[in-house]
Amino acid sequence: MCQEFDLKWHHAVTRVVIGDGALGGLGDYCRAVGRFERAIVVTDENVAGQFGNRAAETLRSVGCAAEVAIIPAGDASKSLRRVELLYDRLASFGVSRDGAVVAVGGGVVTDLAGFVAATWMRGVAAVLCPTTLEADIDAAIGGKTGVNHSSGKNLIGVFRHPPLVVVDTDCLKTLSDRDMAAGMAESVKHGVITGEAFTAWHERNASAVLGRDEATLGELIARNIDIKASVVARDEREESGARAVLNFGHTIGHAIEKVSAYRLRHGECVSLGMVAACRLSQAMGLLANDVADRVERLLRVYGLLTRLDQPVDVEAICDHVGRDKKTMAGKTRFVLLKALGETVLESDVPQDAIRSAIASIQPGPCGSP
Ligand SMILES: NC(=O)c1ccc[n+]([C@@H]2O[C@H](COP(=O)([O-])OP(=O)(O)OC[C@H]3O[C@@H](n4cnc5c(N)ncnc54)[C@H](O)[C@@H]3O)[C@@H](O)[C@H]2O)c1
Ligand SMILES: [Zn+2]
Repeated sequence: MCQEFDLKWHHAVTRVVIGDGALGGLGDYCRAVGRFERAIVVTDENVAGQFGNRAAETLRSVGCAAEVAIIPAGDASKSLRRVELLYDRLASFGVSRDGAVVAVGGGVVTDLAGFVAATWMRGVAAVLCPTTLEADIDAAIGGKTGVNHSSGKNLIGVFRHPPLVVVDTDCLKTLSDRDMAAGMAESVKHGVITGEAFTAWHERNASAVLGRDEATLGELIARNIDIKASVVARDEREESGARAVLNFGHTIGHAIEKVSAYRLRHGECVSLGMVAACRLSQAMGLLANDVADRVERLLRVYGLLTRLDQPVDVEAICDHVGRDKKTMAGKTRFVLLKALGETVLESDVPQDAIRSAIASIQPGPCGSP
């Protein structure tokens, strides 16, 4: 049985379907939100054979002409060059305003295909079928689409909610343990920023999640989508500051991602960034030690890094933190923690405190997990 619910935004509605084997019903779910005549299924080389082709078949079975466009796996595919190649496919296949772009893959595919859909003919429908945990609970929800620019990640993009997101929990069976853990970093983040209930849920359900129990994964994804959507609904275009809470762990996390030259997964960097943000919150006298220790323990349970695997140059990280997208008038705005479920935005953080928070996640005798 699939769970089905609607996310209501200011000017759009997203139907969400979650369940084991949900991809098999994609054609019918599409029919319920629109009569698409033609669709291009955008998928990457790792998932095309198993999931991309299946999606195209179910579309054809309901009378929607579908072609599959396969992109190379990896963030390098989030480029304007790739966008152009996909426009070529849409043009030659004759996808017009009544058509759709269907994404089947991780966050790279959903971000890229979402952007192509949002811009082709000033916008055709995007149907997102995320296949990684990161995409299920984060990238596919909230309307951010886009590609990278040579000067930075995600610098080109638009906000546009898809009418349909179909999450097939079965896809997670083939996901590597490393990618699964990376996705769990965002889930732990959602627990920490909302409070005791979902944090304790993570503690209670670790073995079921790690064992990829279908029902537990379904609940995990639904709860995460609910949290992300309710934060986004308060600040759809990142204007009021409400959406900033989702950046918990991301300021230092992004800097680590860059300094490590993208050797580490985004979620791994977010895990390290959350540990550093907790330590920073402690240093600022906001957070009790036991909460910071609890967050760290939870990240380790899910197989995440809480110390860097290789030493990094603290100054290089500080430098990148200072160049964060959210830096205003030379001050970086951190999301700090006062308690589980209680965050504060703080722009007045002393450099020394930032340095020691970063030092606290360096590998070392007292730092080994
Ligand atoms: N739009 C947003 O709000 C938002 C939020 C979070 C992340 N993102 C973006 O998402 C991207 C990261 O997403 P990701 O972690 O899913 O990366 P990804 O799309 O690169 O997927 C990770 C790897 O897993 C493979 N894969 C995908 N599904 C699989 C499956 N079911 N089984 C086996 N392998 C599978 C992919 O081929 C890839 O090699 C980044 O570009 C990030 O900027 C966007
Ligand atoms: Zn993230």
